[in-house]
Amino acid sequence: MADAVGNKAVKDFHLDVPAPDQGFFVKGLGNTDWGLKNRLSRIFSPKSGRTVMLAFDHGYFMGSTAGLERIDVSIAPLADHADVLMGTRGAIRSCIPPTADRAICLRATHDNSVLFDDLSQGSGFALDMEDAIRMNASALAIQCFIGAKGERDSLEALCRAVDQGNRYGIPIMGVTAVGKEMARTTKYFLLATRILAEQGASIIKTYFCEDFEKVVAACPVPIVIAGGKKLPEDEALTMAYQAVQSGACGVDMGRNIFQSEYPIEMCEAVRKVVHEGFNDKEAFEFFQEATKAGK
Ligand code: R5P
Repeated sequence: MADAVGNKAVKDFHLDVPAPDQGFFVKGLGNTDWGLKNRLSRIFSPKSGRTVMLAFDHGYFMGSTAGLERIDVSIAPLADHADVLMGTRGAIRSCIPPTADRAICLRATHDNSVLFDDLSQGSGFALDMEDAIRMNASALAIQCFIGAKGERDSLEALCRAVDQGNRYGIPIMGVTAVGKEMARTTKYFLLATRILAEQGASIIKTYFCEDFEKVVAACPVPIVIAGGKKLPEDEALTMAYQAVQSGACGVDMGRNIFQSEYPIEMCEAVRKVVHEGFNDKEAFEFFQEATKAGK
């Protein structure tokens, strides 16, 4: 293993040099199989190259989060407004109609519940790939705890999922967890996103941070941002806009959509930023107009 101490500081991200064109529209994934590319094309729009994923997997460790008390009531009507539905197999099977013509990203790890002080102690692969195929999954999400007690177990789960995903053409989304021991710094996200990509994740979900363009540049596969705790809609749209401007390939947003008083309008406003080149102010104006029209 290379010596990790006393190395030259990382500084040249070649921000002016585009990632190599591998003949496929998703960054870094031109050398993969047809089936995996086909699933990626359901996740990322071949037109914009980006995605709006709707995350509603919170119950796997938090129980019934605000807005997710009844997934059949709050999320099912949003299904048509997102590109990808991200949840657990239990929630999707029981609450989302199979007629929803949307890509599915299955949360495929189990972690400590909120009853534990430390959520980041470990993680395991929560399903069999055969069941993911049965659910017509376009991707699986594996959470990794870089820099915390659960690092080793969660990386093991990621590596096994990548092996099985490659066997069946299913991309794996590596999720950089944040917890007590993990600082939300550029340095941390640079490290965590890169580790997950090097271990074979095809998509990385992480949090927006300062100098995000460097995090994007140093990650050889597409990055989508998590939304995090509920913000006012204008601030959430600004975060999405800045992330996309910095090179993110979209969002995997939960609470900032389903906890909004106007979740459909908010999801559509996020789509304007991600797919239609709206800036944050234009998207917020759209949101305000849409909510007025809806009243
Ligand atoms: C993160 O690991 C999980 O996927 C979360 O449940 C999800 O990302 C939360 O989404 P948001 O922060 O946008 O509510």
